[in-house]
Amino acid sequence: MVKIKIKPLIAANWKLNKTVEEAVDSAAKLKIILQGIKDRDIAIFPPFTALEEVDKVIRGTNIMLGAQDACWEEKGAFTGEVSPMMLKDVGCSYIIIGHSERREYFKETDEMVNKKIRLCIADELNVILCVGETLEQRKAGKQKDVVEGMLTKGLKNIKREDMKFITVAYEPVWAISSGDPMHKPATAKDAQEMHAFIRKTLSIMFDDKTAQSTRIIYGGSMKPDNVKELMAKKDINGGLVGGASLDPESFARIVKGF
Ligand code: PGA
Repeated sequence: MVKIKIKPLIAANWKLNKTVEEAVDSAAKLKIILQGIKDRDIAIFPPFTALEEVDKVIRGTNIMLGAQDACWEEKGAFTGEVSPMMLKDVGCSYIIIGHSERREYFKETDEMVNKKIRLCIADELNVILCVGETLEQRKAGKQKDVVEGMLTKGLKNIKREDMKFITVAYEPVWAISSGDPMHKPATAKDAQEMHAFIRKTLSIMFDDKTAQSTRIIYGGSMKPDNVKELMAKKDINGGLVGGASLDPESFARIVKGF
């Protein structure tokens, strides 16, 4: 088996938070606190409205810019949508696709996810593909089937050589912080088990080398006090951080915390 060293990625998913002014202020703080860090990739995902201004703050630094979603079409009659090219145009190099909140609240299907990923790859944008089971699915013992289905359908017809654009984020829906006390982070052991399964699935879908070089990051209540334990696991190559990324100091502690 080939062993390939993967550079970790810590990503801040700001979701539906921050005005342009607030986003610019957070980005400016992060630029200072995180300067000089080169051994890990750092990316922030502000809302669409703040992308252009945040890009001006972080361009040329070690912080990359990403968007939280993109349309599967480049242009046309798709009211309310934003295309990968438009996002690239305002400085994005990363796009989150298939987040569980989009799947749940906006009824995104694996087919839509796949179309979005294919267009992002054609535009040479890096994609974070989110996969993960709900609490009910885990209770029914179906978590691996669910994740395998999301991977095979989401990455359908993606060429092996294009997998360099893909990061997989394992985000168990029950672990994503929502204010509900039932939402707890996955244990490092549970997360590692699923990450290893994701890598195995990728090796079957593509090949071992592709699987070993694909970044698989964890999301779901990652915080300054659990990042070290999660990142110590062999198949966890980074994190997608929601709630704990809103405060720049807290996000910086996660980036520096392993
Ligand atoms: P959380 O969100 O860190 O607030 O749990 C993670 C995510 O949904 O990407």
